[in-house]
Amino acid sequence: MTKINAAITAVAHHVPDYVLTNKELEKMVDTNDEWITSRTGIKERYILKGDNKGVTDIAKGAVEKLLAKRGIGPEEIELVIFCTVTPDRLFPASANIVSEKTGMKNAWGYDLNAACSGFLYGVTTGSKFIESGAYKKVLVIGADKMSSIVDYTDRSTCIIFGDGAGAVLLEPTEDGTGIQDSILRSDGSGEPFLHQKAGGSRRPPSQETLDSGEHYVHQEGKTVFKFAVSNMADVSFEIMERNNLSADDVAWLVPHQANLRIIDATAKRMGVGTDKVMINIDRYGNTTNGTIPICLSEWESKLNKGDNLILAAFGGGFTWGSVYLKWAYGPS
Ligand code: UT7
Repeated sequence: MTKINAAITAVAHHVPDYVLTNKELEKMVDTNDEWITSRTGIKERYILKGDNKGVTDIAKGAVEKLLAKRGIGPEEIELVIFCTVTPDRLFPASANIVSEKTGMKNAWGYDLNAACSGFLYGVTTGSKFIESGAYKKVLVIGADKMSSIVDYTDRSTCIIFGDGAGAVLLEPTEDGTGIQDSILRSDGSGEPFLHQKAGGSRRPPSQETLDSGEHYVHQEGKTVFKFAVSNMADVSFEIMERNNLSADDVAWLVPHQANLRIIDATAKRMGVGTDKVMINIDRYGNTTNGTIPICLSEWESKLNKGDNLILAAFGGGFTWGSVYLKWAYGPS
């Protein structure tokens, strides 16, 4: 019997209209364009403005574009995996909310939180529903409204993050393309270095948590950087080794966009030239779960059927991982 693989058959992304530039940040905190550019590679990022707007409002745009591209109706989607750390509400799941907003009325779904590695966890788990034969159309969304948990008086975090959404459709294929392998890891000892202190059950929101800013992202950048550089590079190299891929075999590295220096270190460890690395951190910043699907969407027209792609991420938890896939279709 031919093996069923899960293949990405469509991809799309969406970002809000407002662009927050380094120049504007210079007026908000004690920072400058030169520092931000040289330490992170970021020039600008998108921010969702307006009352009562959440991550599903951004994701809705990506889902609608994806359905239009694939030429299918929302009622054909069977399962929605919504990877995010900034859900509209703690419950119900943003998967439910975006399904309602876009008419995916036959889908069930759930939210998945693995911080910046969420999209890789989502693609891997989503692919199992396809490979098992249980489902034929699984939508994996990676989206965050990071501006909702960023302290715009904290220069060490507010320069990094942006808002954005990407989505991919997984469908079965028997032609050998699609998801080939994945390595996913987590290490809970990383919790102190990157987290949101309050808002969950351990530290419910109160006047005290608000006053002390515990509802914002807390990151000890240097420590996270150290772990990110070695783990993201190692796991990307490991997946190449175990699939007998040389640097020449890799068409594209699709890295989580947290810091240009982390991306460069990963490419170097893999022996992959920068011309084969998807980099858009300069225009989007770190959109957490959005980074990898936004890259795939932006580079879609350059991808050919059979191209070997290595997706790699590192994030809070700590979580990290890599996915090896063969792109399933050519430029349209
Ligand atoms: O996506 C999830 C995973 N996250 C990551 O992978 C992020 C990993 N970490 C990083 O990318 C980097 O650590 C940061 C970009 C967050 C920070 O860069 P860094 O090179 O590690 O800087 P640092 O935190 O060591 O700070 C160096 C100096 C400090 O000043 P002193 O103590 O040397 O006087 C900071 O106060 O830079 C200062 N600084 C700034 N200066 C201007 C920190 N933020 C800023 C800023 N503008 N925005």
